[in-house]
Amino acid sequence: MTTVSPGRAAAPAAYAALRRQDPELAEVLLGETTRQSTSLQLIAAENFTSEAVLTALGSPLANKYAEGYPGSRHHGGCELVDVAERLAVDRAKALFGAEHANVQAHSGSSAVLAAYAALLRPGDTVLAMGLPYGGHLTHGSPSNFSGRWFDFVGYGLDPETGLIDYEQVRALARERRPKAVVCGSIAYPRHIDYAAFREVADDVGAHLIADAAHPIGLVAGGAAPSPVPYADVVCATTHKVLRGPRGGLILCGADLAERIDRAVFPFTQGGAQMHTIAAKAVAFGEAATPAFTAYAHQVVANARVLADALAAEGFAVSTGGTDTHLVLADPAPHGVDARTARGRLAAAGLVLDTCALPHGDGRGLRLGTAAVTTQGMREADMARVAALFAAAIREEGGVRAAVRDLAARFPPYPDRGSGEITAL
Ligand SMILES: Cc1ncc(COP(=O)(O)O)c(C=O)c1O
Repeated sequence: MTTVSPGRAAAPAAYAALRRQDPELAEVLLGETTRQSTSLQLIAAENFTSEAVLTALGSPLANKYAEGYPGSRHHGGCELVDVAERLAVDRAKALFGAEHANVQAHSGSSAVLAAYAALLRPGDTVLAMGLPYGGHLTHGSPSNFSGRWFDFVGYGLDPETGLIDYEQVRALARERRPKAVVCGSIAYPRHIDYAAFREVADDVGAHLIADAAHPIGLVAGGAAPSPVPYADVVCATTHKVLRGPRGGLILCGADLAERIDRAVFPFTQGGAQMHTIAAKAVAFGEAATPAFTAYAHQVVANARVLADALAAEGFAVSTGGTDTHLVLADPAPHGVDARTARGRLAAAGLVLDTCALPHGDGRGLRLGTAAVTTQGMREADMARVAALFAAAIREEGGVRAAVRDLAARFPPYPDRGSGEITAL
């Protein structure tokens, strides 16, 4: 069967085989590949992994059961996956200068759950950024285990500056005497002052948990300060700026190593996902290279230009800019709310999220530059993205075609083409 699609690279053989066996599902994979390569992924939590990471994910390691830890498994035949996990652990420790790393957490949420399980008892008080200001679901949402099992106290952001008010954090800690203080957010565009949080935690005898799911890739590339020297436990995801597979990571000192490992397995998880752990090892290896350092700095440079250009286009940019990959922009000056704006942007092929704004009672747009930077975009391209952004909000014609043209210049997976099958 041949589908004529001039100018497109051929999809890999694996796609063709899948299409023969399961055309229904193959259409989903190919459609998603096309979607990702013909629109711009500005979701701050997303990125494009390398082909090497995808290879590890799609490898026979996916077949292996491996409860336990290297050298101490509940299953036979773990000799080789043990090597993969040791590589992942050693590379994570070296990358972040941590005494201990647990690479088994299935996701960022699982990592946070394990940190709480290791350090807290149900009913304990925890101080974290309030959800209306950018706290994650695991920071006390009533619909999440965290809000159900712990007594969360939320700190906010300064409504004028959009910055963390460290005095408010200290006052709340003194008043509520939490067992743990959590720093980290889904939307905070500035560096977090981990030393200040450490002081607050020490002041009230609390553990400090850094949920660095967003900035950890920048930390790996030396483009953001590291929480490792300050926090008792650092929780992270491996799939955002860090550019690894979807998954979690926990870093801590040697003193907490055993508690953290037991909190992951057997307390909150079963068998480790060895294909993902192998893919994490690949990603940590990539993140230790000078090319990744350059990438992380480019992510920030791009985000700064994007923030400035959006401000010039009339968007209200929270905190006046960014230190990271994240930009938070309110479309209200354009006369639209965030949800309407997101719909117009999506129609134009600009894919992003809405997000809480610092004043705590409104929503804005959250953008990130991790994925477009992986595609090879630079500062000049960010200025173009901001212009397309404003045009899409104004519902001008031709924006979808312009986004498609821009995306075509930066294929995320050049060897996979746009996902369209050219020859089977
Ligand atoms: C701060 C923070 N914590 C935890 C998570 C949870 O990660 P996951 O979606 O992998 O469970 C996220 C994900 O966006 C996050 O931003």
